[in-house]
Amino acid sequence: MRLSEYFLPLLRENPSEAQVVSHRLMLRAGMIRQSSAGIYSWLPLGLRVLKKVERIVREEQDRAGALEILMPTIQPAELWRESGRYDDYGREMLRIRDRHDREMLYGPTNEEQVTEIVRASIKSYRDLPKLLYHIQWKFRDEVRPRFGVMRGREFLMKDAYSFDLDFAGGRHSYNKMFVAYLRTFARMGLKAIPMRAETGPIGGDLSHEFIILADTGESGVHVHADFIDTDWREFDSVGWEPPALQEIVDHYTSIYAATDEVHDTEAAAKYGEKILSRRGIEVGQIFYFGDKYSRPMGALAIGPDGEAVALEMGSYGIGVSRLVGALIEANHDDTGIIWPESVAPFRVGLINLRPGDARCRKAADGLYAKLLGAGVEVLYDDRDESPGAKFAAMDLIGLPDQLVIGPRGLAGGTVEIKHRRSGERRDVSIEMALSQLTEPSLRPHPFPPSRAGEGRKGAERGQEESGVSGR
Ligand SMILES: Nc1ncnc2c1ncn2[C@@H]1O[C@H](COP(=O)(O)OP(=O)(O)OP(=O)(O)O)[C@@H](O)[C@H]1O
Ligand SMILES: [Mg+2]
Repeated sequence: MRLSEYFLPLLRENPSEAQVVSHRLMLRAGMIRQSSAGIYSWLPLGLRVLKKVERIVREEQDRAGALEILMPTIQPAELWRESGRYDDYGREMLRIRDRHDREMLYGPTNEEQVTEIVRASIKSYRDLPKLLYHIQWKFRDEVRPRFGVMRGREFLMKDAYSFDLDFAGGRHSYNKMFVAYLRTFARMGLKAIPMRAETGPIGGDLSHEFIILADTGESGVHVHADFIDTDWREFDSVGWEPPALQEIVDHYTSIYAATDEVHDTEAAAKYGEKILSRRGIEVGQIFYFGDKYSRPMGALAIGPDGEAVALEMGSYGIGVSRLVGALIEANHDDTGIIWPESVAPFRVGLINLRPGDARCRKAADGLYAKLLGAGVEVLYDDRDESPGAKFAAMDLIGLPDQLVIGPRGLAGGTVEIKHRRSGERRDVSIEMALSQLTEPSLRPHPFPPSRAGEGRKGAERGQEESGVSGR
């Protein structure tokens, strides 16, 4: 994508309404635009990240055997009367009347809707188990929408629902999602710690929240130091057999981690100073609630013994749009965002320092075409702007690698590659630049860790290359 043709409305100043860094950076990087409190439009750069996050979530749901469906945003009130939640849900639910005066609502979650689908078509244990999910917008009229997309009113959620004949089956479905979540967040370079949690309005007796530690998080949490040092990448070789999954879940639930609401000071006391009290961002939550919805709503199946039983259910949410903010909270420095590669809006930012110079233009255009040809996503800054403005913009939007082309380097046959996270810069030949950016195995940084504050300041770089003042 050529920046001269793109829509990237960057802000120079920090927007005063933004209290946390992710909100500030999302506004400054032209990723979102507020429509009304807690409701946002996603602009091109932001939408690319949202789609990447969504794709990782989807791939890991599919891998766990969940089947994708798409339920509506607008639901009939009757369904929620069947479960008894219509009145319970209170003012967070956005209630609507249609032209026939029928009561409708904008779904805050979909337990009732999915239970209705399943009860209409699943009658026998032979049709079980089933894990269904969708990725759909939700609306909750939050008392205090804030922190940008992290606590919105309209937000994108992945919600999955499991249906099993008995507790053992239900437990296995829960474990599948537990491990799918570990994998999902690990792929985004995030350490999302599974913590014992309260079940809230969804109800039930078994629940974990997946929480990223961050000072700006809204949840108070208590977590064993061992969790901080865990290597989250080890899940690549996991099988889906019940004993293998149970072993992983047992391991991760044996380390103490709990949210404020369910924190057990006595149980935690035996670990002494190893228990750290921190703040965190909830990026996902899973619930096992048995027949809480299936019984009142009549979702039954005939078991092998000929008896009808209410289905055992669980539900499993991931805050897809919240994750975009959470990722920035975990990956930024003073100059801007530092995207992990798996969710970066573009892999490479190509900067032409002198678009007016024929030689620079030819080299930059050529590299752009070759990178695109190799399937690399490139944002090409071909604008007629000062080098300083270009460097600042590139650092702000945080693409993993920057490729800088300028007259001095070209005279010596080189271009500069800058790794955004480490700040490391190297002068290399055009051929070397191409092979490093197209062949992941040749790159010095194949799997950057996600830690904030590691990059160098943008002002330190590009000094020699630009030869132009005004930064
Ligand atoms: N207002 C919101 N804005 C953005 N994402 C949200 C919001 N509410 C919930 N989510 C995301 O959806 C996921 C599943 O929803 P769940 O019902 O567990 O939310 P919740 O426990 O009510 O969230 P919270 O405690 O943050 O209000 C959450 O883990 C979170 O990541
Ligand atoms: Mg929750």
